[in-house]
Amino acid sequence: MILKDKTFVITGILTDKSIAFATAKIAIDNGAKIIATGFGDGLRITQRAVKRLDDEIDVLEMDIENTVQVQEVVNQIKDKYASIDGALHSIAFSPTEAMGGNFLNTNVEDAIKSFEVSAFSLKTLTNEFLPILKEGASIVAVDFDNSQAWPGYDWQGVAKSSLQSIVRYLAYYVGKNKVRVNAVASGPLSTTAAKNIPGFSAMNEEWNERAPLGWDTKNAEPVAKVINFLLSDYSEAITGEIIHVDGGAHAIGGSMLPE
Ligand SMILES: NC(=O)c1ccc[n+]([C@@H]2O[C@H](COP(=O)([O-])OP(=O)(O)OC[C@H]3O[C@@H](n4cnc5c(N)ncnc54)[C@H](O)[C@@H]3O)[C@@H](O)[C@H]2O)c1
Repeated sequence: MILKDKTFVITGILTDKSIAFATAKIAIDNGAKIIATGFGDGLRITQRAVKRLDDEIDVLEMDIENTVQVQEVVNQIKDKYASIDGALHSIAFSPTEAMGGNFLNTNVEDAIKSFEVSAFSLKTLTNEFLPILKEGASIVAVDFDNSQAWPGYDWQGVAKSSLQSIVRYLAYYVGKNKVRVNAVASGPLSTTAAKNIPGFSAMNEEWNERAPLGWDTKNAEPVAKVINFLLSDYSEAITGEIIHVDGGAHAIGGSMLPE
């Protein structure tokens, strides 16, 4: 029960396949109380998914691009819970024009949209939540390692590189508040967001072969477990860190061994 008596905001639950759903499930199993957020047209889908975890969980509307709405969520949490022990940022979006091999022709508005929703939003969440974060609180984001280019991932990949950098700057700026900021770099998982990435499914088998431990794109649990570790006090001295949970694929290049 590594999260006993702790309360977390979990963004990004859309379906029961969402990384955030697996995270919330393990957090609840470990004694945590959860507040979920959803947004826009997806809010009702989020509410349905969250019901599968527990009927009692509050689901609040929070479009991360709408600062007023984020502040309303903070006020609601302050009224009901006073303070919280951290949050999961599990949010990403890119217009289709910013992915799928259109890199050279993507316009700046679509590239900026990817950056705003998928990267800058970690600053919004951390900064707006700061007044209700307890000492020792933990913010965790979900990354896809973009230290190499992934043709097709395109401007979402650029946004992920920004996200990694934002994790490190936030770790610096909120460290004095005793708040930690880290990310988990996940291997590919079959979620709604992933299905919207052109060519994503082609990557599944290749990842499983390259990863020394193998990789199951249908199982978000290994990623969710490490997120829970980062939310817990077991990681109390870790901040500004990106932990790869990808079966080890990031450490291995192409094989030169004979077939
Ligand atoms: N699935 C993968 O292979 C994979 C790999 C590495 C990292 N990630 C990252 O994990 C995170 C979660 O994605 P997922 O794969 O669980 O997919 P998902 O589709 O289940 O979750 C994406 C979430 O982003 C939310 N979102 C989008 N725009 C938003 C906005 N303006 N305000 C608030 N929420 C918004 C959606 O409501 C949804 O809940 C994302 O950051 C994604 O890039 C996913």
